[in-house]
Amino acid sequence: SQHQWEAPLPTDSRGPCPGLNTLANHGFLPRNGSNITIPIVLGAIQDGFNFQPTTLMRTVAKLGLLTTDNADNFDLKGLALHGTLEHDASLSRNDLAIGDNIHFQRDHYYNVTSAAQVLVQRLAEDSLINQTSLIQSREFTVRIIESGFYLSVIGNVTTGVAPKNFIQIFFEQERLPLEEGWHRSDVLSRMTTSITSTDAIGEAVTEWEPSGPIVFPEGEVT
Ligand code: HEM
Ligand code: MG
Repeated sequence: SQHQWEAPLPTDSRGPCPGLNTLANHGFLPRNGSNITIPIVLGAIQDGFNFQPTTLMRTVAKLGLLTTDNADNFDLKGLALHGTLEHDASLSRNDLAIGDNIHFQRDHYYNVTSAAQVLVQRLAEDSLINQTSLIQSREFTVRIIESGFYLSVIGNVTTGVAPKNFIQIFFEQERLPLEEGWHRSDVLSRMTTSITSTDAIGEAVTEWEPSGPIVFPEGEVT
């Protein structure tokens, strides 16, 4: 059917976001991953995930435009521009300073027990392998929101619980686990609903320290 999963062609644009890559692999976004406008991406998250285009989603979408010189559209690969939306200590991708910040890295994703634990674990691992890793509160907040997205869209928007195999298929294959029993949420997802898991994850992450050098205007580095 129109929304069958198809592996991307080598010429298709795919990037660091498993959510948008999955929508492109199922044809909710253009399968070539290019010429994505704000209305196109907001329509796709609604059609594919029943995710309402709320203010926060619109803002995230608009930030996508800052990764390109195009006037009104971006492509999925371009989203890897480091420091715009893309950040260090991702769940499923390496840091740019380590190498590839776009493609799925298997070893980052196995042994997941809870989203919060994984966020903290990745931060700890990252601080060991990347001296320049920069996670301050903006990056940390973005990471928590991303985890809220996958728990509510691939899991259950009300309970924030996702079967582990669904999450693995999503990250590894960028495929909706339809044959495995996933279905698009009957309940509309929006930030106020996915925020339930976002908040819960935020609370579960009790300890973390901002990383990266803090540079004051005078040029003093601590
Ligand atoms: C990560 C963009 C919507 C799930 C990312 C990253 C970007 C991005 C640039 C890379 C951050 C990084 O890990 O360094 C966008 C844009 C969106 C959008 C522009 C909408 C306009 C969504 C949606 C989902 C989602 C609807 C739903 C499942 C995720 C997840 C990550 C992520 C789980 C973390 C990946 C990781 O840590 O390895 N997104 N995204 N995103 N996105 Fe999206
Ligand atoms: Mg990253």
